[in-house]
Amino acid sequence: MRILSGIQPSGALHLGNYFGMMKPAIELQDKGEALYFIANYHSMTSLFDAEQRRRNTLDVALDFLACGLDPQKAIFFRQSDVPEVTELAWILTTLTPMGLLERCTSYKDKIAKGISPNHGLFAYPVLMAADILIYDSNVVPVGQDQKQHVEVTRDIAIKFNQQYGETFVIPEPEIRGEVARVPGTDGEKMSKSYGNTIEIFGDEKAMRKKVMSIVMDSRTPQEPKPDADRNIAIQLLKLVAPADVANETEARLRAGGLGYGDLKKTLFEHYWNHFADARRKRAELAANLDYVEKVLADGAARARAIARTVLARARKASGLE
Ligand code: TYM
Repeated sequence: MRILSGIQPSGALHLGNYFGMMKPAIELQDKGEALYFIANYHSMTSLFDAEQRRRNTLDVALDFLACGLDPQKAIFFRQSDVPEVTELAWILTTLTPMGLLERCTSYKDKIAKGISPNHGLFAYPVLMAADILIYDSNVVPVGQDQKQHVEVTRDIAIKFNQQYGETFVIPEPEIRGEVARVPGTDGEKMSKSYGNTIEIFGDEKAMRKKVMSIVMDSRTPQEPKPDADRNIAIQLLKLVAPADVANETEARLRAGGLGYGDLKKTLFEHYWNHFADARRKRAELAANLDYVEKVLADGAARARAIARTVLARARKASGLE
C-alpha cells in the first residue's frame, strides 16, 4: 500500500494540521510505503515572500520530524525537488473540465475571503492530483477540507485512464471522523487564515493567551451544561489529554461547578505536556540542520525515482513519446 500526503509551508503548523493529518500520517508510516512532502509549489498561490517560504519550509520539516515522522520509514521531501510533478500537472490539466474546478469549495472560500485569485489558485487541485497520481498512491490521509480535492483527483485519473488507457492508480482519501475538522479558538475550523489557531510549537506565554481566549458562552460556573461535549475546550482536551481526564472534566462541566477559566487552564496544561517530548526533539533538530537537509535530499531522490517511472508511463500513454 502506498500512502501519500502533503502540507503547505504557509505558516506555523497548528493542532488542526497535527491531529487532522500529521498524527494519522505518522501512524500510517508503519502500514505501508509512505511519502510525505512539503507543498511549497502550492504555497506559491498565496504566499509571495521568497525568504518566508524558505523559512516556513524548514519549519515544517522540523515540526514534522519532531512530531515523529521517521525518515527510515517514510519518504520525506520538498515538493519542488520533484519537478516532474509540474509536467504531470500540465498533462492532467488538459483533461480537467473547468466546471470541476469551479465547483471546488476551497477555491470559492478563498475568493469569498477576498483573496484575489490567480490562475495557480484556480488550478491548485490539478497540481494536487499530480502529487497524488505521480506516486501511484492508494491512500491519502487528510482533513475533511481536502476531501473534495481527492475526489477531483479520482475524477481526473478515471478520465485519463478512459482516454489513454489504464495508467493511474485511483486513490482513496482517509479521513478520521473524530479529527476531520479540529475547531479553532472561535469554534470555526482551525485555520491559519481564520486567525483562530493554536500552534503545535508556539511560545508558551502566547499559547496560554490563545487558549484562555477560546470562546465560551455567558453561563455561570454553577449552571449544568448538558451540551458539554460541544464545548470547544472539551473538544480540544479530548485530543491532548488522557481519555479519563477528558471524560472526567467533561462530566464536571456537564454537572455544573467547573468554571470556564479552570477548564481552559486544564486544557493548557495538557496541551503543553502533550508536546513536551516533541518540543525537545525539535530543539535538537534545529541545532542539526545538516541532518534535516540530508533527510530531505534523500527523500527527494527516492520520491523522484518513483515519479519518473509514473510520468514516463503517462507520457507514453498520451502519445508524447
Ligand atoms: P494544508 O497545508 O492546508 O493542511 C495540511 C493538512 O492539515 C489538515 N487540516 C486540518 N484537519 C483537521 N482540522 C483542521 N482544522 C485542519 N486544518 C488543516 C488538512 O486537511 C490537510 O490534510 N492542499 C493541501 C496540501 C497538499 C496535499 C497534496 C495533500 C498538496 N498536495 C496531495 C494531500 C495530497 C493543503 O493545503 O493542506
